Amino acid sequence: MKKILVIGSAGQIGSELVLELRKRYGAENVVATDLCPNAGKKLAENGLFEVLNVCNREDLKAICEKYEIDHIINMAAILSAVGEKKPMLAWDVNMNGLINVLEIAREMEMKQVLIPSSIAAFGPETPADFTPQETILRPTTMYGVTKVAGELLGDYYVRRFGLDVRGLRYPGIISNETLPGGGTTDYAVEIYYEAIKNKKYTCFVKEDTQLPMMYMPDCLKATLDLFEADFDNLKHHSDFNVGSMSFTVKELADSIKKYIPEFEIDYAPDYRQDIADTWPNSVDDSCARMEWGWEPSFDLDAMTKDMLEAIQKKYDKGLI
Ligand code: SER
Repeated sequence: MKKILVIGSAGQIGSELVLELRKRYGAENVVATDLCPNAGKKLAENGLFEVLNVCNREDLKAICEKYEIDHIINMAAILSAVGEKKPMLAWDVNMNGLINVLEIAREMEMKQVLIPSSIAAFGPETPADFTPQETILRPTTMYGVTKVAGELLGDYYVRRFGLDVRGLRYPGIISNETLPGGGTTDYAVEIYYEAIKNKKYTCFVKEDTQLPMMYMPDCLKATLDLFEADFDNLKHHSDFNVGSMSFTVKELADSIKKYIPEFEIDYAPDYRQDIADTWPNSVDDSCARMEWGWEPSFDLDAMTKDMLEAIQKKYDKGLI
């Protein structure tokens, strides 16, 4: 059985990914780690949990040895918006954290490392519509710089050391379990919470801003499908485009109005508009479809229905 370490497991994706991994591989085979002990409380209740700062190589190595880890999924990252406020922190966590993971995996001859990339790897010169797999990667955010470097490093470790490294360029991820932390696409989550709580939302990007997005069940499916894919079928490694849906903020608001007709939206663009403007509208994910059978399930209205129902339940219980 695989022995899997998830780093950054209390975050938006990690918190749900760990539970799914424990279902598939057994709680005793999935070690969740996070910087924050409190954030890990829920994960510690139903399985193994360790406090870990990915920048501390010795601690990372000790945990890998203790549990005889042979697969690492590294979800620890500083996202785009926080990364622009604290670029050196973004560099430190995203790059030094990643090199620690890759080096320990190489030293311990691990079977696989999965490292996420992002649509932030693209930049203003990248073709914005149906962005190809192979294209111009000249991002203008520190987060994007670290994602491109991460993709190149991952591919370098495959070629140079024969380590199995995989990664996918996540679009904005929308979910109702754990809030995202410090990304540009966070508006697409906040809008649902505000629709339930206040029936109105002030969005920090303009109404015609269009970005690729994905609902959490599809995000988990993409991550696990790539995690489980046969290495011999992969021509790409650390940089798969994965598409699902793509909509403007106006289209998102209109979808919410189908369920909450009195919902109102207005706009107060801030520095995150400049980041969003450098990212694509939609991506071409035909390589992911061909090499590991990627296929999304949710569209905008199906996601909206699901999100509103889940958040309404939390609201009714007084949880938000
Ligand atoms: N959701 C991320 C961000 O907005 C993109 O990968 O920073």
